[in-house]
Amino acid sequence: MKIAMIGSGYVGLVSGACLADFGHDVVCIDKADDKVEALKAGRIPIFEPGLDELVAKNVKAGRLTFETALAEPVAAADVVFIAVGTPSRRGDGHADLSYVYGAAREIAASIRGFTIVVTKSTVPVGTGDEVERIIREENPQADFAVVSNPEFLREGAAISDFKRPDRIVVGIEDERARDVMTEVYRPLYLNHSPLLFTERRTSELIKYAANAFLAMKITFINEMADLCEAVGADVQAVARGIGLDNRIGGKFLHAGPGYGGSCFPKDTLALVKTAQDAASPVRLIETTVAVNDQRKRAMGRKVMAACGGSVRGKTVAVLGLTFKPNTDDMRDAPSLSIIQALIDQGAEVKAYDPEGIDQAKPLLDASVAFASGPYDCAEGADAVVIVTEWDSFRALDLSRLKSVMRQPVLVDLRNIYREDEVARFGFTYTGVGRPA
Ligand code: UGA
Repeated sequence: MKIAMIGSGYVGLVSGACLADFGHDVVCIDKADDKVEALKAGRIPIFEPGLDELVAKNVKAGRLTFETALAEPVAAADVVFIAVGTPSRRGDGHADLSYVYGAAREIAASIRGFTIVVTKSTVPVGTGDEVERIIREENPQADFAVVSNPEFLREGAAISDFKRPDRIVVGIEDERARDVMTEVYRPLYLNHSPLLFTERRTSELIKYAANAFLAMKITFINEMADLCEAVGADVQAVARGIGLDNRIGGKFLHAGPGYGGSCFPKDTLALVKTAQDAASPVRLIETTVAVNDQRKRAMGRKVMAACGGSVRGKTVAVLGLTFKPNTDDMRDAPSLSIIQALIDQGAEVKAYDPEGIDQAKPLLDASVAFASGPYDCAEGADAVVIVTEWDSFRALDLSRLKSVMRQPVLVDLRNIYREDEVARFGFTYTGVGRPA
């Protein structure tokens, strides 16, 4: 199959490289010249484990190329994927679809022969209808079908998620799209990943429903963690105890500082807006959004409590800035709210992250100092706060850590240590949802 991938950001680049690896001919297109130049020169603009090797392998095999102009690749394509961004629109929280509709307009003029146009970006219900209307309006002769095919990959595990998905969801209105999309995903389909065909609007909603459910699941366990602290129970045992019930499942039950990232915050908000517009409010998700926002700020208060009630004049070392490990993505990272809360309360903040410092700098208060490693970060600190569970923080040399700190206070917002193991080194320990 010949595939044009419009948008070479996270989803576009990973999907493009994986589809090329399946044997398809893929052109990844992006308007940003510098990004395309970098990709042509073999430099990957994002941090994602394994992506540079996968891109290099498929470029070498001649199956993956990069362009800034879409006319030729679209004209040659059997399938055109739209994988551009859908950020939150300023002011109202709706998804901003200007990039999607802009791409549809441009694609329209270049379509040759029967072409499938796939929205891979996360788009609200009804976007496929509008993409179809735009293409028909721009090019009444075009022979095409618009398909919804949401992506469920996670940052940091993107390649394995794409190649071994729990399911592939494809929303179609035109039966001709069924065979083509089956062919696109043939290697996965043959590998027994279920290929679920639905109507287009249903497929669009599945993506939002999935992210909203996961965000709600995390928020549920976070509230249980608070309750555990109040009544003297252990949230990790609660998570295991409920997660072993197959109807609940053990995944996404890690209590922490609240969810962040490029997807859950924006998608929950967009679903709330869609539902309000449809006069069918999703109150559980409205509450999820509010509880998660409050939680990020509450984590600052947790650090203060661990520091004896105040952080004024104290130095707090923050380990981990990105919204989760194995990414350099800082979008809606809990660290941003936590650090601001600490600074507002008079703390000096030093921070370290294995990959995220460059992205974090412009988003943080100018007073934040950046360190070159965890021990450097902890030097002279009155508390170390683990905000992101990078593997390199899981096996810290605790006696070395303690020896460089002013006060041995450890606040572990990801529960990667146990109180008994750090107490042996003389630390005062605060986790999430675990009895003191
Ligand atoms: C999420 C979904 O997991 C993907 O399926 C989806 O494709 C993606 O959004 C998207 O819509 O593009 P992602 O945002 O990359 O993926 O990261 P997750 O691993 O889901 O983590 C999201 C946030 O939840 C992080 O802040 C993480 O720390 C937090 N989290 C996750 C918890 O606090 N506890 C958990 O048990 C799991």
